[in-house]
Amino acid sequence: MSEKATLEKRFAEIRARDFTRLDRGGHTYLDYTGSGLYAESQLRSHMQFLQDHVLGNPHSENPASAAATRLVESTRERVLEFFNADPDVYQVVFTANASAALKLVGEAYPFEATSRFVLLRDNHNSVNGIRSYARARGAEVSYIDLSRDLRIAPGERIPPAGEGPSLFAYPAQSNFSGVQHPLALVEEAHALGYDVVLDAAAFVPTNPVDVSAVGPDYMCVSFYKMFGFPTGVGALIARTDALHKLHRPWFAGGTVEYVSVQSEVHRLRNDAGAFEDGTPNFLAIAGIPSGLDFLESVGMDALHEHVLGLTSRLLEMLTELHHGNGRPVVDVYGPLTTEARGGTVAFNVLDPEGRVVPFGVVEREASEENISLRGGCFCNPGAAEVAFGLPASETLDCLQAQPWGAFNLKDLSSCLGRDLPVGAMRASLGIATDHADLDRLAAFLRRYVDRPVDALEAAAAR
Ligand SMILES: Cc1ncc(COP(=O)(O)O)c(C=O)c1O
Repeated sequence: MSEKATLEKRFAEIRARDFTRLDRGGHTYLDYTGSGLYAESQLRSHMQFLQDHVLGNPHSENPASAAATRLVESTRERVLEFFNADPDVYQVVFTANASAALKLVGEAYPFEATSRFVLLRDNHNSVNGIRSYARARGAEVSYIDLSRDLRIAPGERIPPAGEGPSLFAYPAQSNFSGVQHPLALVEEAHALGYDVVLDAAAFVPTNPVDVSAVGPDYMCVSFYKMFGFPTGVGALIARTDALHKLHRPWFAGGTVEYVSVQSEVHRLRNDAGAFEDGTPNFLAIAGIPSGLDFLESVGMDALHEHVLGLTSRLLEMLTELHHGNGRPVVDVYGPLTTEARGGTVAFNVLDPEGRVVPFGVVEREASEENISLRGGCFCNPGAAEVAFGLPASETLDCLQAQPWGAFNLKDLSSCLGRDLPVGAMRASLGIATDHADLDRLAAFLRRYVDRPVDALEAAAAR
């Protein structure tokens, strides 16, 4: 059997054993960048663990509390080990999700008037949001441009760091286009004097990461994106010296060595606990080892190969679809090959005249077929603006003209008054994706062949 066939057989077995609910419910799940799916065996092992242990609120000496403390501490070690992060150099801070990890950095990074915050246009809003903290402290904020294929534009360089503490932030993999930006940017930015935030949320579910080799100061992940369960827990994996640079704007239960009310002083802990406000989500944290065990049993390299092979087929399938007049049915945003890209593909459906079929129509029709695709801008407006070619000043006017509380992409589209998309569809692949999922997506998209957009919109309005 060829290597490819062996890999396919293995993943077919994994699907048949651990994701039986997909076929039982007739699901075509293609939203892994939104959320990973948990393996059924992973749930069983987590439930067994909960049934076998008495876990109380950590940070006390009683047996139930001590068991929870041990569990949280051993899970930190397990996470470091999974990402090959040297425990003498890195720490794991448990957070609610990747966004909360990014916020910890943004609110506590010592930005000052001579600092620079530099980021790629291709970032999730939870990274873009750090600019509000930087600006509030007078730091200069600048974006690195993308080219039309949504990679860093030729000739774009990270500027030298400012005199004050400076931060560079980028995603290892775009949640919009699937582009994998070079991990070597971490070293490049360090050499220019930056601390680096690596947003690994969309990368780690299907790619191995060697944190010790890559060397980010701060890296964020959401565990549900890696293995589906539990939700509500992510991590900031940070160098101890980088954590010590952060100045937390407050303290809370669990974060302090001491607090005096009468003297109004406090001292934060000097470990990861200083960043974990209140009671950690210890029962969810208890679910992390079974998720990591599951991924390790599959093997990250094998998972990567599996997703890459399917992505290649998906790209081929999308670009091969044509209307009777020879025009393409699908406009893919981002690279059309699997080189330095992951299994996330953003696209719009076009009609025979090349007009964009509103993503809302496609999303609704896909949902009717039990196909889970995502529609919109995926919280990544920078990549979307470049992909759709949105003119800056007209778009700004239209954004600001939208009434507060009633924002909607459809109105934005009519305000722009041109045939420009304001959102897209996104298919993203993962551990349980198989060729049959892609076949169903292809069959679904074939229904747009030779269908003019006005007819589709009229049908949608009915
Ligand atoms: C690249 C990237 N960064 C950050 C996030 C935010 O993750 P969460 O919503 O789990 O905080 C996401 C979520 O889609 C993402 O894809």
